[in-house]
This record gives sequence, structure tokens and C-alpha cells, in this order.
Amino acid sequence: QQSEDIRVLGSSYGRDKWTNATPAILEKTGRDLLHHPSHPLAILKELIFKEFPTFAHYDNISPVVSTYQNFDSLGFSKDHPGRSVTDTYYINQDTLLRTHTSAHQLQLLAAGKKDDPELLALANNSSASPRNERFLVAADVYRRDEIDASHYPVFHQMEGVCTFSRAEIQKHIRNRNIAADTTSSTGESGSVAKLLDTTVIGDDNPVQPEHSEEEAAFLADHMKQMMNNMVVQILTKAVAAQKSTGDADAAGSQTEFPVRWIDAFFPFTSPSWEMEVLFQGEWLEICGCGVMKQAILDDAGMPDRVGWAFGFGLERLAMLLFGIPDIRLFWSSDPRFTGQFAPGQINTFKPFSRHPACTKDVSFWLPESGDFHENDLMDMVREIAGDLVEGVKLIDSFTHPKTGKASRCYRINYCSMDRNVTNEEINTIQEQVRQRIVSQLGVTLR
Ligand code: PHE
Repeated sequence: QQSEDIRVLGSSYGRDKWTNATPAILEKTGRDLLHHPSHPLAILKELIFKEFPTFAHYDNISPVVSTYQNFDSLGFSKDHPGRSVTDTYYINQDTLLRTHTSAHQLQLLAAGKKDDPELLALANNSSASPRNERFLVAADVYRRDEIDASHYPVFHQMEGVCTFSRAEIQKHIRNRNIAADTTSSTGESGSVAKLLDTTVIGDDNPVQPEHSEEEAAFLADHMKQMMNNMVVQILTKAVAAQKSTGDADAAGSQTEFPVRWIDAFFPFTSPSWEMEVLFQGEWLEICGCGVMKQAILDDAGMPDRVGWAFGFGLERLAMLLFGIPDIRLFWSSDPRFTGQFAPGQINTFKPFSRHPACTKDVSFWLPESGDFHENDLMDMVREIAGDLVEGVKLIDSFTHPKTGKASRCYRINYCSMDRNVTNEEINTIQEQVRQRIVSQLGVTLR
């Protein structure tokens, strides 16, 4: 069975010892949530696309990418932890499910340069930036992770890339007038965003040697302004939606959205930041961003251009906008969920009665080799129970003082988003979990 090819989205790939993508994960590659116009994630995607009218918009690039695209093309070191099989779903050593939309940066820039008509034709709005000098990519991304109300091994990201010729930047610097730039979206709400820049561009987050201080400063300012505009537009809509559904106490009537930029590190940007916005009393991490590594533009055949990039998760913002309390709901096909939303509209989710939950504990001794990765357990449980598993939590961990053996106890929380589950059904699942962790993870049940 291990030698059989693995099929993903209609294509076959050879297996090797890197292969760890489970059937439960592969099933998700076909769900295409971003193409259901009344799905909250698709609504948010469209809202963001609208904020960037001069960018090419991509939302239909396959999640199967090469290891080169996902890591090497972006300058990840050979031993970067993100490459590990415990974090990433591999189809085989050379092919994987993208872990982020940055996987498409080089390919899309190069497509514009080399005039790759097939790839360029995937854009929804081919005239906006015909050579991909500016583009957005919305897509499903895959990461091995723990399971709870805000973590799911598949989620969605929006990548933004904006490049300039060096001559263009000089012109902007002379004019000192970013607001006149055609890429800026016009604010319709009139609300003010405050920029609190807390970062220090220092030795460990430097301007790249290929860039002048001026160029880097222009790119950072331009990026921050555009991201700021977008976030303000969207959060203003969220507040308006909450007001109109009478949910105003949660919303207050926030009209200012302070933003802060925290130093961050990515192999493919420098300097880099994490953007956070103060929304309803909490600092929310919105996205990572920064000045693109010049090597990427050089490799794409455009050494005369410089650029910035951001990448952010759609789920977190969608949960806020629509008041969705659990990330698993995005995958629900219950009409009580899917029926609540309509294209172009932000409205607050009305919770429906939850089906009763059922918890089961499992305790075991770890294998003596010490070779146990929690994410293997997470994937196994998800593979067996599918979306019936709401969470898996470590509740006890100790080492026996005499034998030196290590013990773990995990609590698995089962609950369906869509229907009532019987105790019998859960017992059968739990029994499978118990058998599989013994046979596949080499643990000993207690
Ligand atoms: N790809 C990064 C992530 O998934 C985000 C990012 C995108 C950071 C673009 C900088 C520039 O965490």
C-alpha cells in the first residue's frame, strides 16, 4: 500500500519516506471554500481584492507546489525548522502542500517578466497589472498543527506583492507624495488610522545592502500605508455590521484603529514586521510583511526593481468580521451555517444550538526511543475522526521515578458541528485511535 502513488487533485505523485499527507488532509484540497461566493472567507477575499484595484488577483493556484517554491526560492536555509516533516505536509521529498502563499512570489514575478501566458491568464483581472508587478494571491495553505477552536491544519492566506522600478521610487522620493500614488485606495469612511511605529531598524533586521536607506524607507512607508488603509476599511465595515445587527455593545462605535509594527523575521524579507491592530480592546496580529529580499527579484529577472510583500491569515479576520467562534465552522456544510451569509455582505453569525460534546481520555507510555511527535497524534486523530474532533489536549505528563518511562495523557474532545453523534459512534472511533497509536506511534497504552 505504501508503494502506491498518492493522488492529489487529479494528479499522481510517487511516495517516498517524506510522504506524510493524510487522506483527511488531501480531501480538503478539493473543498475550494474561496470559490463559494457566499462563504465568509470568499466574501472577505473579495473585500480585500476590491481594496487593491491595481493589483492582479489570483485565487485559483493549486496548493501542490515544489519544495523549491515553498522554501528554497524564498531563501529558507536547508535546516530551517519549517521544512521539518513534523510541521509540513509532504507529498514526497520534492512536492508538498504549500505552507504559505509566499510560495508563489518568485513564480508569479517571473511569469510577468517572461510573459508566461498560461500563468498570467489565471488572474481574475488580467488588465490590472498585466506583468504582475503588483499582485495578490488568496489560497488555502496547510500546516501540521494542534487542534482547537482557533487552529486547523488548513487555513487561508492572502499574499500581497508590490514592486517598483528604482527610477519610479526616485520620482516618488522627489515628490514626497505617496498619497498621489495610483495604488492607494480611497478611504470612504473618513476614519483615521494612527500609525505607531515601534520598530527600530537595527543590526538584526537590517536594510539590505542592495537598497539605499531611502529606498527601504519608501517601500516600508508605502506598504504600511496600503495595509493600514485596507485594515481600516475592513474593520470599519465590521463595526457597521455589528451596529446594524444590534450587536453594538461589543463593537462600541470604534472609528480609530491604532496599528503597531513589531520587528519580525522572515527568510524572504528584510526589514520585516508583524502588523498588529487594536480592535475592541485587543491587539490582533494581522500579518507578516517586509521589504522583499532582492535575491527574489534578481532570480525573477528583474534586478532593476524592488518591492514589498505581506501575507496574512484570512480566518482570524473573518472570525472577527462575522463573529464566528470556532475555526471548524468554516468547513461546516450545515445549512444553519452556510445559509447565514450572502455575497458582498458582512453580517454577524447567529450561533445555533451546539450538539452535545463527548470527551475521552487516552493515557500511554512513550516509546523508549523517545521518538514521539504530538503532531503525529493530531493527524492520526483527525484522520480517524475527521471534523468530529474539536480538540486534543495534553492533560497530564510525568516520568516514572523508578523506570524512567515517560507517560502522557491526552483528552480528546469530540463534537459535531452538523449533527448529533451517538456514544457508540464515538466509542468506535476512540477504539480505533487507541489501536492506531499503538501500531503506528509505538506507544504502550496504560
Ligand atoms: N509567509 C509568511 C507567513 O506565512 C508571511 C509573510 C508574507 C511575511 C510576506 C513577509 C512577507 O508567516
